[in-house]
Amino acid sequence: MCGIFAYLNYNVNRERRYILQVLFNGLRRLEYRGYDSAGISIDNSTSDPITCSCSSSSSSSQPLLNSLPLSPPPLVFRQEGNIESLVKSVYQEVATIDLNLEESFSIHAGIAHTGGPLTESQLHGIVIPKHQHFPFKANAVAHYIWISGAQPVTFSQVVLEVMRHLEGAYALIFKSRHYPNELIACKRGSPLLLGVKELNEDINSGSAFHDAKFLSMDGHSKELFLSSDANAIVEHTKRVLVIEDGEVVHLKDGSVSILKFDNDKGRHSGAHSRPSSVQRALSVLEMEVEQINKGNYEHYMQKEIHEQPESLTTTMRGRLIRGGSCKAKTVLLGGLKDHLKTIRRSRRIVFVGCGTSYNAALAARPILEELSGVPVTMEIASDLVDRQGPIYREDTAVFVSQSGETADTLLAFEYALENGALCVGITNTVSSAIARHTHCGVHINAGAEIGVASTKAYTSQIVVMAMLALAIGGDAISSQARREAIIDGLFDLPNRVREVLKLDHEMKDLAKLLMAEQSLLVFGRGYNYATALEGALKVKEVALMHSEGMLAGEMKHVAYSKQQSVIQQLHARKGRLIVMCSKGDAASVSPGESCRVIEVPQVEDCLQPVVNIVPLQLLAYHLTVLKGYNVDQPRNLAKSVTTQSQNSPSPDGLAKLDSKAAQVAGESGQY
Ligand code: UD1
Ligand code: BG6
Repeated sequence: MCGIFAYLNYNVNRERRYILQVLFNGLRRLEYRGYDSAGISIDNSTSDPITCSCSSSSSSSQPLLNSLPLSPPPLVFRQEGNIESLVKSVYQEVATIDLNLEESFSIHAGIAHTGGPLTESQLHGIVIPKHQHFPFKANAVAHYIWISGAQPVTFSQVVLEVMRHLEGAYALIFKSRHYPNELIACKRGSPLLLGVKELNEDINSGSAFHDAKFLSMDGHSKELFLSSDANAIVEHTKRVLVIEDGEVVHLKDGSVSILKFDNDKGRHSGAHSRPSSVQRALSVLEMEVEQINKGNYEHYMQKEIHEQPESLTTTMRGRLIRGGSCKAKTVLLGGLKDHLKTIRRSRRIVFVGCGTSYNAALAARPILEELSGVPVTMEIASDLVDRQGPIYREDTAVFVSQSGETADTLLAFEYALENGALCVGITNTVSSAIARHTHCGVHINAGAEIGVASTKAYTSQIVVMAMLALAIGGDAISSQARREAIIDGLFDLPNRVREVLKLDHEMKDLAKLLMAEQSLLVFGRGYNYATALEGALKVKEVALMHSEGMLAGEMKHVAYSKQQSVIQQLHARKGRLIVMCSKGDAASVSPGESCRVIEVPQVEDCLQPVVNIVPLQLLAYHLTVLKGYNVDQPRNLAKSVTTQSQNSPSPDGLAKLDSKAAQVAGESGQY
């Protein structure tokens, strides 16, 4: 949860009202991640800076903090509750203090954040006393830090010093009255991006960053954005820099300098390691602004459920090959092709994930076992880490995560990496920690998922893992017919999902019937065990109703006639039954129309979970809306949990991942 956003305009006039709007909009884009409070900080006025009159004993040629021109204290607003209550309170306060919203700034740095419940230190700021050792856990929030004492320091030195003492995962943006119109950003473990919008079109290509000379000192007008989430940046610019762990990004006078801080060295040698400047190039965000809008839908979750035919098409685009001269039907996963041999030779494939991502892997497990012949085991990320379960060099560990930033999944990844396993990522988020640091992987390309309850990412994850199974089993003659049938099924899948979406009204009616119920039990077996778990998870997550997914085989320990036996047993015990079955099977699963039946199109067995989850997603959605709950930001649920509740993510470990990634990235010339 939590997010940060900053906006710096350079050499372009922006009124205070406009700056506030940009900051508020940035916060609205972060809203979906879950939060309890929000805050912003902007400048007070453009009147002449005050020079601090305190004396100093230092004779250093570097600027002295206490002899720097001191701007008036910035305005800081914080509010418990949602963004709109912050907006309201800011405008009320602004009116009370008679602040001129039309005042124009040719350069201005504003910061904003969403966060947990306000603590004492957030309410009053954190004062860092000189020379005091202050290890404190910093979650991904914007802290307002004042520096006391009379050190001869630059802004980046101050931040480097702060970083040296921080523990845990964080992403921070600093603004200081001692360094007006400057911003500094740094991170460890949590995501952070810089967006660059040049207001002079001609210089928008191929800029490289190098220390203070980055993007020229020539006074070109520009707007710079920092955020923990690409969603808050994409509406302004697609040109971004993904900030790496241990980096300090300094925005000053229209330029950007990047210093790399080696936390390991500083911490273990006791000495202060010298940060080195780094050169980086911008990359282009592969997302469209439309993805972060609701379009004609009322809620993101609704939109994302209904756009699954399109998201699945995008997931498969360019990856399924049918026809051509050899008429063969194959799968091409560009990110894995060089690693398939190693995966085939693995002793074991271990799927690791949390929540919906874990369920998606569970849905794909049978087809992966069938086509690869390699044993597949399942791990909930936190449990693997808690147990320190055995992971070997001969294992392939597959990390499944929509966000690519879930703290538990990252910790499990760090653990598997240390144990020498081949680490494969399956994620929706390009440039996320999982995408950047795993040895190889596949982007699911489902498009930005804003609804807190994962829907389209789930179906795309299953499809990617089915394609993974096809790619691994790609050279076995014995399974060729089966593989080709699955590929045909994949081609047809978006149409089948379009068909099942027509059940929308039926699921709304069902939701009306179930609204007052206490509990919903969902049974499934085989490929649809995962559907039962995921359907129940959706209902729990958004409709806040008790729901449990159960393996139907556990109801009655008999294999006889499989689901029918369970249906009969439950019916005999007066359970109120709703049965989901393939079209045409209603009479056999519900003799005498004893149950309410939901008929779905039949597809290739391993793809059935993709179709079957859709009515349950719709049910969870309608139950929530009918109950009057907020479906996109359910109570007590965060889109992605980037900090751990118990074991802190290991900064040392994450730093190691970064140096590894830097090596890999360097080889491929990506950065
Ligand atoms: C890539 C390009 C796509 C282009 C296509 C053309 C990207 C993000 N994708 O898609 O724009 O149209 O080539 O051939 O540039 N990776 C990981 N871990 C992960 C996910 C991915 O290491 O969790 C790596 C992959 O191993 C690969 C790279 O990221 O090296 C891109 O992965 P992916 O987008 O899935 O590859 P393609 O589908 O080939
Ligand atoms: C949990 C969310 O914290 O993380 C779930 O509440 C989600 O909804 C899970 O499925 C995993 O997230 P990700 O981004 O790793 O797929």
